[in-house]
Amino acid sequence: MGFEKLVFSKEAVHELLREYGSPLYVYDEETLRKRCQEMKNLMKYPLFRVNYSAKANTNVELLKIICSEGLDVDGMSPGEMHLEMKAGFSSDRITFIGNNVSRNELQFAVNQDILVSVDSLSQLRLLGEINRGGRVCLRINPGIGAGHHDKVITGGKKAKFGIAIEDLNLAQDIAANYDMTIIGLNHHIGSLFLESKAYVEAAAGILELAATLPSVEMVDLGGGFGIPYRHGIESRLDLAVLGNELDNLVEDWVASHRSINIRTEPGRYVVAECGALLGTVTAVKENYNTFFIGTDIGFNTLVRPVMYDSYHEISVVPQEDRPYQEYDKAVYVVGQICESGDILAHDRVFPCCQEGDALIVHDAGAYGFTMASNYNSRPLPAEILLEKNGGIRLIRKAQTLEDLWKD
Ligand SMILES: Cc1ncc(COP(=O)(O)O)c(C=O)c1O
Repeated sequence: MGFEKLVFSKEAVHELLREYGSPLYVYDEETLRKRCQEMKNLMKYPLFRVNYSAKANTNVELLKIICSEGLDVDGMSPGEMHLEMKAGFSSDRITFIGNNVSRNELQFAVNQDILVSVDSLSQLRLLGEINRGGRVCLRINPGIGAGHHDKVITGGKKAKFGIAIEDLNLAQDIAANYDMTIIGLNHHIGSLFLESKAYVEAAAGILELAATLPSVEMVDLGGGFGIPYRHGIESRLDLAVLGNELDNLVEDWVASHRSINIRTEPGRYVVAECGALLGTVTAVKENYNTFFIGTDIGFNTLVRPVMYDSYHEISVVPQEDRPYQEYDKAVYVVGQICESGDILAHDRVFPCCQEGDALIVHDAGAYGFTMASNYNSRPLPAEILLEKNGGIRLIRKAQTLEDLWKD
C-alpha cells in the first residue's frame, strides 16, 4: 500500500476537515451519476425500470440527482417517502415497501396515492380496510435467502419479511374480499451479491409465481447488487453477464405468457462508491502488544463494521510529509465511543499514524449517514457534495450540541 491510494489530494482532505469539521461524509456527483446509469442500463428489456432503494442514503440533494437520472424510488417509511417527494419524485414514481407498518403509515401512502407493497396477510387486510378497491403489490418470501451477513439475508424461512409462497392463495382471497387488485410482486432475498447465480434463480422463481396471477403487471426482482469493498481482491459484479441472463429469462417468460413490467431495487450499488467518510486520528497507543489507532469515527458515524463486521478500505493522509512506514504488526482502528465493540477495522496492515493525520474510509456512501446515530450524545456530521463542475457544496450541516436537545 502507501499513502497514495487517495481519491482527493492530501491538501484537499485536510482542508475539507478544517472547513466542515471531522468526521465528514463526502460524495462525488460524477460517480453517483455513473452508477445510476449502469443500473438503468442493466437490462435491454424495454419495460425495465429501476427503483432506487433510498434506505441506503436519503440525503435530499443526492435523491435529486438520482431523480434527475430517471430512476424511480422505494420508500420504507413515511419519512423516506417525505424526503423522496421533497427531492422531486412524484407519487407515481414511489413504492412503499412496508414491513410491519402501522395503519397511520399505510394511510400516509394511500393519501399520497403511493403504491404499497405489503409483506404479510395481516398487513394486506389492514390495507384493504383503508383502501378498499385499490391496487396492491405483495412482497413474497421465496423461502430462500442470500447475503454477506445473517443480518442482511431478507428471504428464507427464518426471515421476518414477506408472504410465504404457500399463503399466496389466502392473499388472493383477502385481496378479493376487499376488491383489491394484486398488480405487482416483489422480493428481496438479501444484500451484497457479487455473482449473479442466486439473483437470477430467485428471479426465475418470482416470474413463475407471476405466471399464476394474471392481474400482476409488474415484477420487482429486488436489490442486493454488491460492490467490491475489498479493493483489488473482490471483483466487480459483472453487470453485462447479469443483465444478459435477466434479459434472456424475461424474454422467454414474455414469449410464453404476457408483457410485464420488470423492476429492480438497488440501494448500495447506486450510492456506496460515490461516498467517503473522512475522519481524524485522535490517539495512538500500544497496549499489551496490540496497536490501537484511535479516531473520531465511532460506530455512531459508521455502524456497518460493528453491525455486520463489514470491511472498508481505509487510507491515511498524514498531516505532514514523512516517509511511508507500516506497523510491524496488525492494528485495530477504533472509534471514540464508550463501547469495547467500537472497532472500525481490525487486524489490518496499516501505515504508522500520528495524532492529526486524516483518514479516508472508502465506499461509505451506502448505509453510512442513514444509519448514523447520536449515541454517546455525539452530533451527526456534515455531508458535502463534490459537484461535477468542480464546486463543493454543503448538503447537510453538522449538528451542534444545541441540536441534541430542543425544547
Ligand atoms: C426490500 C429491500 N429492497 C432493496 C434493498 C436494497 O438492498 P441493497 O442496498 O443491498 O441493494 C433492501 C435492503 O435491505 C431491502 O430490504
